[in-house]
Amino acid sequence: MAEDIRRLFEPRAVAIVGASRNPAKIGHKLVDNILASGYKGSVYPVNPSGGTVLDLPAVPSIDAIDDDVDLACIAIPAKFAGEAVRACADRGVPYVAVITSGFAEVGALAEEREMVAYAAERGTRILGPNIFGIYSAACSMNATFGPRDIQAGNIAIITQSGALGIAMMGKTRAENIGVSAVVSVGNKADIAEADLLSYLADDPATKAILMYVEGIQDGERLVRELREVTPRKPVLVIKSGRSRRGALAAASHTGSLAGADEVFSDVMRQCGVLRVDTIAEALNLSKFLATSPRPRGSNAVIITNGGGIGVMAADAAERFGVGLYDDLATLNETFSDAVPAFGSTRNPVDITGQGTVDDYRRSLDAALASEDIHSVICLGCETALLEPEPLTRTLESVAQRAASDTPVVMSFLGGAAMDVVVEELRPRGVPIYGDVYEAVSALGALYAYERRPATMTAPETPADIDGAAIREVVDSARAEERGFLLAHETRALAIAAGIRPPASAVASSMQDAVRHAEAIGYPVVLKVVSRHILHKSDVGGIALDLEDRGELIAAYEAILHRCRQAVPHAVIDGIEVSEMVRSGTETIVGARRDPSFGPVVMCGLGGVYVEVMKDVAFRAYPLDRAEALTMIKEVRSYPLLLGVRGESRKDVEAVVDAVLRVGAVLAANPDISDIEINPLVVYDEGEGTRAVDVRVILDDPGSGGDA
Ligand code: COA
Repeated sequence: MAEDIRRLFEPRAVAIVGASRNPAKIGHKLVDNILASGYKGSVYPVNPSGGTVLDLPAVPSIDAIDDDVDLACIAIPAKFAGEAVRACADRGVPYVAVITSGFAEVGALAEEREMVAYAAERGTRILGPNIFGIYSAACSMNATFGPRDIQAGNIAIITQSGALGIAMMGKTRAENIGVSAVVSVGNKADIAEADLLSYLADDPATKAILMYVEGIQDGERLVRELREVTPRKPVLVIKSGRSRRGALAAASHTGSLAGADEVFSDVMRQCGVLRVDTIAEALNLSKFLATSPRPRGSNAVIITNGGGIGVMAADAAERFGVGLYDDLATLNETFSDAVPAFGSTRNPVDITGQGTVDDYRRSLDAALASEDIHSVICLGCETALLEPEPLTRTLESVAQRAASDTPVVMSFLGGAAMDVVVEELRPRGVPIYGDVYEAVSALGALYAYERRPATMTAPETPADIDGAAIREVVDSARAEERGFLLAHETRALAIAAGIRPPASAVASSMQDAVRHAEAIGYPVVLKVVSRHILHKSDVGGIALDLEDRGELIAAYEAILHRCRQAVPHAVIDGIEVSEMVRSGTETIVGARRDPSFGPVVMCGLGGVYVEVMKDVAFRAYPLDRAEALTMIKEVRSYPLLLGVRGESRKDVEAVVDAVLRVGAVLAANPDISDIEINPLVVYDEGEGTRAVDVRVILDDPGSGGDA
């Protein structure tokens, strides 16, 4: 795949269809940018009126080029663009970047699809339409109509928004952050993020990948690609459009809780992708992740000249998951010679307001020399003792020495003197920030990346699921054109899936009832079974919590007697004997087909408050046991499963099992759109679960899978 997409990033020759002599036109700007960026391949302006564009002779059509054009950029109005794309496809151009707007984004979906289909049949891939182009440092090519001056570096940007992409390019320049590639994907009619990631994963210049995403089409493929990439380099994502559309369209709890945004966040975490909220944060974190060494371990140390900012940083460390080293003896041994007598060698290591630049140097050197310290947060407030120039030199030299094996972040604040230090050092690549929070969050992002989920072991599908029995149940509901399963069907499905509903059997005689009750085990519940009695409890057709044979016999007779009196004409088909479900911890476990990511599983705090608490977590399916357990641990009320106030630990493994089972059933049965168990009552460790209420919703055959 990477080899396949390489020509897009490293084309041997580029054609610009719509190249113009008029400097105000996008077709002119594209040629100008490509030439200015130092692209070494051939550049062919295409314009029917001929002439020259920026001293290059324009050819009248793509057919007139006698060269291997790997990339054609289309910059002519939409009504002509389709024809131009077809000409490129006929000519065998492998990549066409359609800059032109006026396709699906304004409702012209059919034209867009037709253009892509024609190209696909001839092996041509389309980038866009509705894009600003592509920049690739690998061949020094700025085929965009964005800024002329792009700085090469090691962050790759993939963006769905053109305007934001152009703004990000400008910002990377201003912040002196270099980019390895910038790809505008626009309407993603053909090429999407997943196509580009494999190249960027292999690209040695790319050290971090930043994606701006609005919507996701083939989420299952994106998940697969991201899982391949994140072990190799960090991926950050900014996602806009926190819409609840998916939730509104849903018909189950699982659906209504599965807001598009929540699912997106959880699935990104599952893939080891860091989600960020703002462009500034995204660029800051990408820059740090692209340049910082990886920490050897989790022990971070704060070195500061101010108690207050030290405490702020400690709070931030907790929030961003940075572990502060707290071995007092080692800390004292490490810093006792470096920290002035009036300071503190605890963490935060405090050189106090009287600390000098030299004290910083000694403390930082001590931290870098220590085997036990794995990352450093260096903070300072302006004092008369901190002269900007020596401080700048010291911090820069520390950053250089740390560059190979210890992540260091810095923050110095105060007046103009400290601003000078920060402004001098930042463009030189020193991770120094004006704000303590920003510094610690950068280190937190690095640790979050380190903690990303392990590469998935083989997806785990429980082997004992009876697929044929499930199929039969679903087919019979389909044959009756029902969009849901009836109680007995759901029960049959649950049993076939290995999800244990409460044990139950229908008795046709007293002896039968006793036999069933003994097989199930007391206490049991009795319920009348009659198509003429809909509201069983109204006529005394139910008896709960029957502890033994004597109670069972009395209740059996009483039910028959009451029902015959209340509804004399009723035909009684039998009496259902079921297990009396003991109380336990109520959870919810479900699976549904997400419009973006396909099969997703969820779990959370169950029972009647589930919709209020919304204490649930999601994962894309397939997943392994370890990831299912991580999902369960993300639920805020997870401690309930560990046992509170002296209760024993609950059977978490059985919840993991239920998650894998509902996921497997949904993934194997395209007709099922939602499965939900609420509550799934969880008992003590080793005692399993009971699926007290199971709901199964079938896909609306007319919906095309968009449940
Ligand atoms: N092949 C080659 N050149 C052609 C052509 C064809 N089939 N048809 C026309 N041209 C020439 C035109 O003659 C013109 O050249 P000229 O200035 O020498 O006459 C040039 O191509 C451009 O055509 P023009 O009609 O002037 O279009 P334009 O430059 O005003 O607009 C777009 C073209 C693509 C820029 C415009 O339609 C558009 O989509 N703009 C929005 C782009 C955008 O925002 N993208 C998303 C960013 S995120």
